[in-house]
Amino acid sequence: MKPKEKIILTGDRPTGKLHIGHYVGSLRRRVELQNSGLYDKIFVFEADAQALTDNIENPEKVRQNVVEVALDYLAAGLDPTKSTLFIQSQIPELCELSFYFMDLVSVSRLQRNPTVKTEIQMRGFSGESIPVGFFTYPISQAADITMFKATTVPVGEDQEPMLEQCREIVRRFNNIYGETLVEPNILLPENAACLRLPGTDGKAKMSKSLGNCIYLSDSADEVNKKVKTMYTDPLHLQVSDPGHLEGNTVFTYLDAFATDEQVSRLTTDYATLQEMKDHYTRGGLGDVKCKKLLMAVLQETLEPIRQRRAEYEKDIPAVYEILRKGCEVARAAACETMDEVRRAMKINYFEDRALIEEQARRFQK
Ligand code: TRP
Repeated sequence: MKPKEKIILTGDRPTGKLHIGHYVGSLRRRVELQNSGLYDKIFVFEADAQALTDNIENPEKVRQNVVEVALDYLAAGLDPTKSTLFIQSQIPELCELSFYFMDLVSVSRLQRNPTVKTEIQMRGFSGESIPVGFFTYPISQAADITMFKATTVPVGEDQEPMLEQCREIVRRFNNIYGETLVEPNILLPENAACLRLPGTDGKAKMSKSLGNCIYLSDSADEVNKKVKTMYTDPLHLQVSDPGHLEGNTVFTYLDAFATDEQVSRLTTDYATLQEMKDHYTRGGLGDVKCKKLLMAVLQETLEPIRQRRAEYEKDIPAVYEILRKGCEVARAAACETMDEVRRAMKINYFEDRALIEEQARRFQK
């Protein structure tokens, strides 16, 4: 086998514009990984076919968000000359590989996948009404990952069961058909606050339906307005009261975004975020000051993103062209893997001269 290349693959369902939770949870890291020069190839894709598994009657939503997410990617700093940006549905080989993977996974194993379990509950599916395509999306996700021989999959912790399932499929495949596919590793976000950024209302998850998101494409005014009404510490009624950090969304966001350099530059009183937290817990530091810092920090992060987005928005056909070219590159890689898969699975009838000749001899007797 060739020396193993280091390949990153990751993606998102295009069901809405990306928010700052996506940014700290994955996007920021992807851009760093892209620019680190440590990886031979980087694939970032929009899982539109996966999005359709639970938006069956809403294809327009997925269609509209493909370009939104592409803009968010580019705005965040993914560079199409360094990363391949593509769309899942345009790579038909993914269906083919998923089909073969379906032989390697049992129904009960899928039922035990914790992510699938929770999503089934969330969506209110009961046993009989679960669409097969939705139920089997972990298999299709394993195809996404292995098709591109990804060694490293940077995703949130919620994707851990998907990666585990993928590794199982790879092991099973390689056991049966010989070393062909690559076992991927998950790469989790480094900062604990980034694992899952809560919504501005303090609820566990930032989600469009809860209306508690700060989007990468929000204007400076929108961001400030959202920070002003953010959930803090309900027990911190007067400035002099001791404040609590636990579950205090403003501090969770500061943990995720603010560097000590920013804290010391943007406040007059603190050299580090820890100093500010200590003051808050002692009492005597008001929420308004903390929110002011958060606004300043968020603006520093979001302004360059906003500017890049505005540039790309001027030429939307060019954005589609970036995706189209990315699909071409991805498809070429997929075709190569499928050739190897078909060879390993012994379904490469027409390229196998020896097979044809051997069969010919057998029937001439
Ligand atoms: N399930 C992922 C999500 O909801 C999206 C996704 C699909 C993905 N295929 C993938 C992520 C492969 C990483 C690798 O965010």
